[in-house]
Amino acid sequence: MKILDQIEEPSPAISYAGLIERIEILRSTLRWSSRLERADIDKLLRQATSLRDEVMQLSHKERFVQAAVAEPARVDQSRGARRKALIERSFIFEGTFGDNPRLLESLEIAEKAAPTDLPVLIDGESGTGKELMAKVIHANGSRADKPFISVNCGAIPDNLLESELFGHRKGAFTGASNDRKGKFESAHTGTIFLDEIGELPLAGQVKLLRVLEAHEIQRVGSDETIAVDTRIVAATNRNLRQLSEEGKFREDLFYRLSVIHVTLPPLRERRDEIPLLIAWFGDEAAGTLKRRPVRLTPRLRDFLLNYAYPGNIRELRNVMYRVSCLAGDMADVDHLPVDMRPAAPGSAAAAGSASSGGEPISVANLMSLSDAKRAASDDAEKAFLERGLREVSGTVAELARRIDMNRSHLQMLLKKHGLHSKDFRNRNVPPPGNNGADENDEEDDDS
Ligand SMILES: Nc1ncnc2c1ncn2[C@@H]1O[C@H](COP(=O)(O)OP(=O)(O)OP(=O)(O)O)[C@@H](O)[C@H]1O
Ligand SMILES: [Mg+2]
Repeated sequence: MKILDQIEEPSPAISYAGLIERIEILRSTLRWSSRLERADIDKLLRQATSLRDEVMQLSHKERFVQAAVAEPARVDQSRGARRKALIERSFIFEGTFGDNPRLLESLEIAEKAAPTDLPVLIDGESGTGKELMAKVIHANGSRADKPFISVNCGAIPDNLLESELFGHRKGAFTGASNDRKGKFESAHTGTIFLDEIGELPLAGQVKLLRVLEAHEIQRVGSDETIAVDTRIVAATNRNLRQLSEEGKFREDLFYRLSVIHVTLPPLRERRDEIPLLIAWFGDEAAGTLKRRPVRLTPRLRDFLLNYAYPGNIRELRNVMYRVSCLAGDMADVDHLPVDMRPAAPGSAAAAGSASSGGEPISVANLMSLSDAKRAASDDAEKAFLERGLREVSGTVAELARRIDMNRSHLQMLLKKHGLHSKDFRNRNVPPPGNNGADENDEEDDDS
């Protein structure tokens, strides 16, 4: 059977067109064969099975990866066993610590995605470890000994974006005094990490899409096309799907970038890891500062276990370095940054979450009331933001800089608490009764 032999040829790359053609050949073989020998039937069955596998792979790589990853969970492997299995498979963690099932799932997806060249989109709040995850993917792939180039798309002025990404020819614009390589060329054969991809202006998105499709770039001011072989990993703390629905992010680019999509959960949704992370960063800080690991008073430990961590793992790491630097043998809440410290008994934040009897309640007791915990950390967060906004006269960008938080995440928190930066601009306190009155107010941050 000539036709069957023809479709047994191994194809160099899977494509939809190729698959459809092979399915058609199978169908017509079945339809027009008056009689099939046992050997032909076996052959057809083998081909049908292999086609089905390829369709699965091609049509939904992400689901394919997730299904494969879900397998260990089905046999109910413990967290320790899942982490151990990764270690046994020589997985490189790049310092990623923790064994929360959601983090393990992300690591297992990274493990599957790393050896492929598929684009990966990592999202999650500020400080959840997106850049670290990008490095994990790079380190576990075949490009590990090639460059890992990180680009912060939100930090490049619009007029320099193209030159920064793709390079320029000498004289292409005022100030272009030499030929210059762009980030894509620098990342050739390696990985390019496009951080804060949600901040990329639409014009830049179009150009990026072209690179993804054609795997080639043009330096600004040059007609020559240069082939680039670069694996793309992008990260964002924004909801790209929503941005694309709002017309602020190209939908086609979103789908191209998110073939594999990894979402890192905020620390408050993996609180079970906080004790481990406290110990881990305490030891790390001790090593860096060449001291014995700091011990924590029960009051500080309680506080750290129940705090909301708007800055996620970065914030916890910074706190452990800070208390390790400032405290002697034993650290207490006084060693926390002023704005992070628990509200003093009797203050508005404490009163809001304590009993209405007006009795001063110690921090330890307050933290032990499970219902009060969430309210207390929300109140502390709001008080912190109000104080910060007052200090910077309502300039969100400045506050974001001072507290080392991504601006869009800060805006999300302001929205959550109904705080409006303009209320802090001309006066030192928000107008009484005006707590988030103007619902349509888009916080414009740069004022
Ligand atoms: N699971 C983890 N284990 C150990 N360290 C971690 C983990 N996740 C994050 N970190 C550390 O926390 C800090 C912040 O991580 P990273 O820079 O990757 O966050 P990010 O999500 O990119 O933040 P941003 O959105 O603000 O850029 C880094 O010092 C990183 O090493
Ligand atoms: Mg980052």
